Amino acid sequence: MAHVSIIGTGTMGQAIAGVVRQGGSTVELLGSADTDQPVTGDVVVLAVYYGAVPDVIAQRGEQLAGKVVVDITNPIDTATFDALVVPPDGSAAAEIAARLPRSRVVKAFNTTFAATLAAGALGDQPTTVLMAGDDEEAKSALAEIVTGAGLRALDAGSLRRARELEALGLLQITLAAGEKIGWTGGFALVPR
Ligand SMILES: NC(=O)c1ccc[n+]([C@@H]2O[C@H](COP(=O)([O-])OP(=O)(O)OC[C@H]3O[C@@H](n4cnc5c(N)ncnc54)[C@H](OP(=O)(O)O)[C@@H]3O)[C@@H](O)[C@H]2O)c1
Repeated sequence: MAHVSIIGTGTMGQAIAGVVRQGGSTVELLGSADTDQPVTGDVVVLAVYYGAVPDVIAQRGEQLAGKVVVDITNPIDTATFDALVVPPDGSAAAEIAARLPRSRVVKAFNTTFAATLAAGALGDQPTTVLMAGDDEEAKSALAEIVTGAGLRALDAGSLRRARELEALGLLQITLAAGEKIGWTGGFALVPR
């Protein structure tokens, strides 16, 4: 059983908290008004928009040392909703890892709409949380939390794969924004 801190109490913060609780782990939710409250989890989910991440790191960077830090952001250009704002060979997760060298950063949850985390399934498949990161133990810890809730966790590879996960996140959002799929839908994975 893990103890998970979630920074951000919005749609994704609540959905991920539900997953964590369903898997039998404990969770603390920290909102933007809780900056005096230290993070106590070994796993810390940054459930905020990409633009808010620098603030969170400025407020809590020291507290995140030694912890598994989960980046769920989709770093989308909100002026056009037509591109990512990170460099073509980079990712939000890589930027966060560079700013938090003493943390173990995992990209995850950015390709699963909140409703699919709550539902636990997409079509006839369990909802799949794709993960990318350089620390195997960190990915295993997160996978245990996710699978404990009946969802599927899939290790997509090193932190370099965060770029592809962010591209997939952008594509899924453009499909939903264009009403070609619903916000309750998205990409499912059929393992074999
Ligand atoms: N919604 C989805 O289905 C989905 C799916 C995949 C990934 N994502 C990603 O998940 C992230 C969160 O999205 P969301 O839909 O949950 O947005 P949201 O409902 O607007 O929640 C964002 C939360 O961030 C909080 N916040 C901002 N600055 C903060 C700070 N310094 N400390 C603590 N909390 C802070 C806000 O708190 P206040 O309201 O108090 O300011 C708000 O509760 C985004 O990066 C998004 O790209 C979303």
